[in-house]
Amino acid sequence: SGNRLTDRFGRTVSYVRLSVTDRCDFRCVYCMSEDMTFLPKAQILTLEEIARVARNFVSLGAEKIRLTGGEPLVRNNVLELVEEIGGYGLRDFALTTNGNRLASMAQPLREAGLHRVNISLDSLDPSRFRELSRTGRLENVLDGIDAAREAGFDGIKLNVVVIKGRNDDEVPELIEFARRKRIDISFIEEMPLGEISEHDRGLGLCTSDEVRDIISKHHELIPTTDDSGGPARYYRMPDSPVRVGFISPHSHNFCASCNRVRVTAEGRLLLCLGNEHSMDLRRVLRAHPDNDDPVRQAIIGAMDLKPERHHFSADGDVQILRFMNMTGG
Ligand code: GTP
Ligand code: 5AD
Ligand code: SF4
Repeated sequence: SGNRLTDRFGRTVSYVRLSVTDRCDFRCVYCMSEDMTFLPKAQILTLEEIARVARNFVSLGAEKIRLTGGEPLVRNNVLELVEEIGGYGLRDFALTTNGNRLASMAQPLREAGLHRVNISLDSLDPSRFRELSRTGRLENVLDGIDAAREAGFDGIKLNVVVIKGRNDDEVPELIEFARRKRIDISFIEEMPLGEISEHDRGLGLCTSDEVRDIISKHHELIPTTDDSGGPARYYRMPDSPVRVGFISPHSHNFCASCNRVRVTAEGRLLLCLGNEHSMDLRRVLRAHPDNDDPVRQAIIGAMDLKPERHHFSADGDVQILRFMNMTGG
């Protein structure tokens, strides 16, 4: 079965990130403003519509689907969607979560057919965790991480957004935590999405090179050619199975090998995280409730809108007004 999703630059789209809600039980400082308003329920895709989007992408050649948010686990009945998509025979079926509800949901998610989870963890200090997430409780997330390990996923990964002056000093502790738990860990350069105050953005960009230098004081980092199909570049350490990933949209642009698109909770097909190019898939879904041909044609046609690269700038210019929770990470 060939993949029919190729863009003008010869890139093949095999990875689809589906945001199932813009809502979240956290308010992370780099993701949301303090007074977020969320979409009215009528505007967001139903679970059936999300499954229909997934099915059509799979029929066009997509092999990897990731559910995102907001926080995907706050969407009602999300397990039904996981079970449905879990039956599509994907090579990779994953979910990105803040971990807050994983303690009770990890096992059911695994049983519903989810392969992998990525869990955000920006601090191991309870009060600082609260500052960064505004509403989160570290203990819930740590319990969630343990529950995910016990559930026996094919892979678990931790995601750390490193913010200068906020949590860059915790990089060594986070590495030790990942080594102790034997979980892969990725460090992410903050991206300038949404109108977020300078104060919350921290003291400027902490680049992956800076994070790697911090880790190298404690552990040798050996480059690998591993590829999870995502944007991270992976390193390993001589004495541990844990892989250390770096996602560096600023310092090591990875757009040339981009293989993914996003669908927002309201059904907007976004061709690039760092651009506004999009197509209103919800309109097509609702105009043709019983015929998938126009849906597939619309998806194929939208590939021509995929821009060559994002243009984030490191000096804090906000170019994308859409917040990260609207985007799906
Ligand atoms: P794997 O499938 O495990 O490789 O995960 P992933 O890195 O694709 O997904 P995850 O949801 O864990 O995202 C980690 C970080 O990578 C988030 O900050 C995302 O916003 C960022 N990210 C994912 N895809 C892209 C992309 O196409 N462009 C940019 N700039 N960032 C991306
Ligand atoms: N820059 C980089 N990563 C971000 N995330 C959320 N907002 C940002 C941002 N502004 C991360 C979350 C989560 C993933 C989906 O995206 O921490 O791990
Ligand atoms: Fe919620 Fe994730 Fe955004 Fe934090 S980064 S507010 S956990 S969607």
